[in-house]
Amino acid sequence: MQRLLTGLQPSGVLHIGNYLGALKPFSEMYSQYESFLMVADYHALTSLRDPEALRANIRDIVRSYVAAGVDPKKAVIFQQSRVQEHTELAWIFECLVTVPFLELSHAYKDKVAKGLEANAGLFNYPMLMAADILLYDTDVVPVGADQRQHLEYAREAAAKFNNSYGDVLKEPQAKILESVAVVPGTDGKKMSKSYGNTIPLYEPKDVLVKAVMSIVTDSSGELPQNVYEIHKHFKSKKELDALYESNKGKYKVLKEALIDDIEKIVAPMREIYESITDADVERILKEGSDRAREYAAAKMKAVRSSIGVTI
Ligand code: AMP
Ligand code: TRP
Repeated sequence: MQRLLTGLQPSGVLHIGNYLGALKPFSEMYSQYESFLMVADYHALTSLRDPEALRANIRDIVRSYVAAGVDPKKAVIFQQSRVQEHTELAWIFECLVTVPFLELSHAYKDKVAKGLEANAGLFNYPMLMAADILLYDTDVVPVGADQRQHLEYAREAAAKFNNSYGDVLKEPQAKILESVAVVPGTDGKKMSKSYGNTIPLYEPKDVLVKAVMSIVTDSSGELPQNVYEIHKHFKSKKELDALYESNKGKYKVLKEALIDDIEKIVAPMREIYESITDADVERILKEGSDRAREYAAAKMKAVRSSIGVTI
């Protein structure tokens, strides 16, 4: 069986874009692989400095994946910060790559271009992600197209390491989830927590209703484009076009139909989500992280021995 690993940053509350772009595809494919699902909490630290929010977001990710159908017995669900080998291997990569090489990172360049001050963690981010992947001899990394460059960094880190120290690390393959179109938010731009335009995934129904009702509908003509573009992900084109044709200009009716269609999918998952306690989350993360550590420790043993720190 091939090994699969992916990660999600606990940097905000998950929205329906995350569901369609990450949770759903993962829950549909993970059982065909030996799967590792990582909560990338040290990555989130590059942008989040609120302990209570971080704690809540970590729990939210675990609950969300289980509610979306991932069985913690069939996938290793673990927390990055509980497996110290990740930061350890990242350091070793940082000593192998150059500053100009890391300066090419989109995430870093975007922040600098916006005039923001990037912390050194953000600058080194791709090397921590490379460690996440390479510690597990990962074959396949399913991610959105925005992560393509990070996968290249991981492949490059493996190649540089192997060039210097022998064949220790496996170069992974990206599995870009192209089929998942970008889900727009309530203002028509990409749905993203940083734009404040999200439709939440597991929040109570009244929060969902409020978010859908706030979708901007100053579109030209009688078709509320922003509503339609989100709705597309929840209904077949044929049914959708018939619905919008027979309700031309009736924005409220169409928004209510969208709420119903989201609710059909989300309601059963929300019920599972709400039934998962903090103690369940702790148990899942402890068991998963203990298992992950076994793999990571074995790989680090080989790494340490090859770089010459074992005497
Ligand atoms: P982020 O919350 O931006 O770190 O994204 C986490 C995951 O959700 C990534 O795999 C993204 O590709 C996916 N994702 C985030 N926003 C969207 C969106 N608006 N449409 C589709 N996928 C998304
Ligand atoms: N950078 C990824 C994102 O923002 C999250 C991530 C961290 C990840 N480590 C990973 C994804 C390892 C895949 C593999 O979406």
